[in-house]
Amino acid sequence: MRSSSHALRLGVLTALLLSQVCSGIRWLTLSHAPASLHINQTHHCKLLPGLVSSQAQLCRTNLELMQTIIQAAREVKKTCQKTFADMRWNCSSIDIPSDAPKYRPDLERGTREAAFVYALSAATISHTIARACTSGDLRVCSCGPIPAEIPEPGYRWGGCADNLHYGLMMGSKFSDAPMKMKRASSNANKLMHLHNSEAGRRALREALVMKCKCHGVSGSCSIRTCWRGLQDLREIAMDLKTKYLSATKVVHRPSGTRKQLVPKDIDIRPLRENELVYLQSSPDFCTKNEKQGSVGTQDRQCNKTSLGSDSCDLMCCGRGYNPYTEKLVERCHCKYHWCCYVTCKKCERIVERYVCK
Ligand SMILES: *[C@@H]1O[C@H](CO)[C@@H](O)[C@H](O)[C@H]1NC(C)=O
Ligand SMILES: *[C@@H]1O[C@H](CO)[C@@H](O)[C@H](O)[C@H]1NC(C)=O
Ligand SMILES: *[C@@H]1O[C@H](CO)[C@@H](O)[C@H](O)[C@H]1NC(C)=O
Repeated sequence: MRSSSHALRLGVLTALLLSQVCSGIRWLTLSHAPASLHINQTHHCKLLPGLVSSQAQLCRTNLELMQTIIQAAREVKKTCQKTFADMRWNCSSIDIPSDAPKYRPDLERGTREAAFVYALSAATISHTIARACTSGDLRVCSCGPIPAEIPEPGYRWGGCADNLHYGLMMGSKFSDAPMKMKRASSNANKLMHLHNSEAGRRALREALVMKCKCHGVSGSCSIRTCWRGLQDLREIAMDLKTKYLSATKVVHRPSGTRKQLVPKDIDIRPLRENELVYLQSSPDFCTKNEKQGSVGTQDRQCNKTSLGSDSCDLMCCGRGYNPYTEKLVERCHCKYHWCCYVTCKKCERIVERYVCK
């Protein structure tokens, strides 16, 4: 009795210590900040969960930015779960309530999944700030600069470019802050998190593309107004998912005067800055294993006709699946009425779905 309660206390203490040491993405708990919270005074920074001291300092000196950063934390969660909805690991572990500083084994162990989440977080915070500059939500920044090159004939620069420069500057200051602390997690983990955050920002830089609007008589498009705009986060996340699938396993080795991360198998080549790296292999996520951060795939929906990762074969790890039926209500027999409205009927359709055993 006594020894078990002792062990329990020790476990809780260890979990607390670990959650404090490995706090690189604790700021994502900001996604739980109440929507009504209006941060316009420095003492409000104390109300925000998950910030390390240097982030709280950034909050006090950049109050206006905080609403945007809270929005970014929500975007990270939503985008991660959407991007991984068809995978065994579905990013559910990203969602930790702010009042439970629970140890997140799969996201703090230096795995491939952690690599993705750090890269996505770094890209998202800068993306959200850059877009907030453009949309006029922030007073401290506005449109990005007009490109120096002379546009091609028929094109001219105009519109409002996304302010990637400001987004990258403030985003990296905030999201890298925990890894820049002296007592941050082990050196190897810290290097891994910083590398993947930078890889996320590289993916964001590559997502700055030319966007144009047509002008001219009746849409003839004889003149185009163009600006540099960011692709949607969803596309950047898909790019990072591809990088996640081909991530490189690294080891922490002396290299010159310092220890560095080098590819484990082919250590003749240096790391590429745009690739994701991880230190520890992941479980297969087939069965529940809390220690490894795996919730398992029991009761997950699978797709009987898909050949991809959401196929019943792969999703259910060969355990088989149970069918169930679902009633869908859809709009149908729509009619156009002159002028100008549409009426529809409601039709019911029964579809068969499958969940893993
Ligand atoms: C802060 O925001 C609240 C809610 O919008 C507002 O009532 C208050 O006047 C603001 N305070 C300052 C100092 O701007
Ligand atoms: C992820 O999978 C778990 C386990 O099957 C499930 O409980 C959870 O709702 C899923 N999360 C999302 C965001 O789909
Ligand atoms: C299942 O996968 C097929 C093929 O990829 C796709 O066309 C279909 O929409 C999917 N069904 C569901 C319910 O997601």
